[in-house]
This record gives sequence, C-alpha cells and structure tokens, in this order.
Amino acid sequence: MRTPIIAGNWKMNKNPQEAVEFVNAIKDKLGPYTAVERVVCPPYVALPGVQAALAGTAIAVGAQDVHWEESGAYTSQIAPNMLQGLVKHVIIGHSETREYQGVTNEMVNKKAKAALAHGLHPIIAVGESLEINEAGGTQEFVGNQVRAAFDGIPASALATIVVAYEPIWAIGTGKSATSDQANSIIGAIRGILAELYGDEHANAMRIQYGGSVKPNNMVDFMSQEHIDGALVGGASLKVDSFVDLVRLAVEAKGLS
Ligand code: 13P
Repeated sequence: MRTPIIAGNWKMNKNPQEAVEFVNAIKDKLGPYTAVERVVCPPYVALPGVQAALAGTAIAVGAQDVHWEESGAYTSQIAPNMLQGLVKHVIIGHSETREYQGVTNEMVNKKAKAALAHGLHPIIAVGESLEINEAGGTQEFVGNQVRAAFDGIPASALATIVVAYEPIWAIGTGKSATSDQANSIIGAIRGILAELYGDEHANAMRIQYGGSVKPNNMVDFMSQEHIDGALVGGASLKVDSFVDLVRLAVEAKGLS
C-alpha cells in the first residue's frame, strides 16, 4: 500500500505572518490523519516561520522550486543547501516554472539530482497543455517529461520521489481532468517508470494528481487505483478546504 500524499502548493500566496497563522490553524486539525502524508509548500520567505511552527508535528514542509547549483551568480534563485533543515520536499518542474521561468526538462533533471544529493525529496511535476491534450499527444508528451526527469536517477532514490501529474489546462481553471482520464495517464506514467526501473519500484512510487482539486471532487480522484494523492493550489489556501481534502483522502482510501 502506497501512503497517499496531499501537498498544498501555495504558489505566490500568503506573507510570512499569514503563513504561520495558517499552519497554526491547521496543525491540530490535521493531527488525526496520520495515514496520509501532509505537506505545505509556502513561498520561500515563509519557510523559516512555517518550519518552526510545525516543528514537532508530522506535517511536512516543502519548497516550490530549487536551483541545481550550490551558490553563484543566479539572481533570485535558491540553492539546495539553503533548503536543508527547512524543508523535506521540493516541487520541481511545476508548469508555472516551465512556462514563466523557462525551466526545461533538462533543468528539471538537474534540479532533481541536486535535490536528492542534499537529502531533499523531489515532487516532480509533469503535464501537458490543452493543445497537446486535444491533439491526442498527452501520453507521449508526459512520457517524455518523465523519462527526461528521471534520466540518470538511480532506483535507490525512488522511494523519496513523488511524481505529480498536472494537466496545465486544469490548473486554476476549475476544469479538472476526469478522474478516469487522470487515472489513465497516471497509470501510463507508472508504466514508464516500470520500463525504467521494473514493476516493483514502479508499483511502490507515489503519483499525485493536480489541477482544480477541490473537496467536491477529491473522493473521485482518490478512489482511483493509480492516484496516490493530490498537489493542490487554490483549495490548499483555506483552512477548512485543506483539512477537508486530507480527511477525504483518508476516507476514500479506506484508511480511517
Ligand atoms: P489548482 O489546485 O489551483 O488548480 O492548482 C494546481 C496546482 O498547480 C498545484 O501545483
């Protein structure tokens, strides 16, 4: 049984004070749901406060991106060593970084390797545009993203990696993929991981769905065989909806 993982990607929302207030408001409410891994990914500037507020709880902290170099002339960037001790997870290859910051498949691979080298757990995000989806190219496109991201990553690292399938056209649009569509692509991603690493490793890996996940569609997604959790934007920003998502994941997976 794969432990489901529900991660809130706050994107560019909540200042450091709001972030601490938010995690103080959720931490006791999320306490009972130990059967799923619970993660919040605030903006960088809020990480120290959030990490301190959640110390001693089982709620993990993640960053939203990381650079692959240790230091240097990379204005605006954050090195993996800077995140050590602050976060457990790091999102890599989110479509918004691919689109607005020019992150390529090759960079995703370098970021993932750098994160792993520093003991950080990558959440590797992949997903296709509406155009690709409508042209029937989803499996091929997402498959290429997965192969590129995992290039040169050893099987021994897989237990710490999560993949997030987020169709770009479903992000922030209120238009989620159907749970069957998402399960089918996520199953295909698992198939590629099986080609690369063998069935046993592929079946142990956790793959999330992301894109307009809300309390009212959470059970549909979590009831699917291949979907091991969610990477959530908008609905992770409100205390009640984030707590509901975690509770619904526990219930849908029959873990309560
Ligand atoms: P929404 O849940 O707001 O659609 O965002 C999804 C996402 O991009 C999470 O990384």
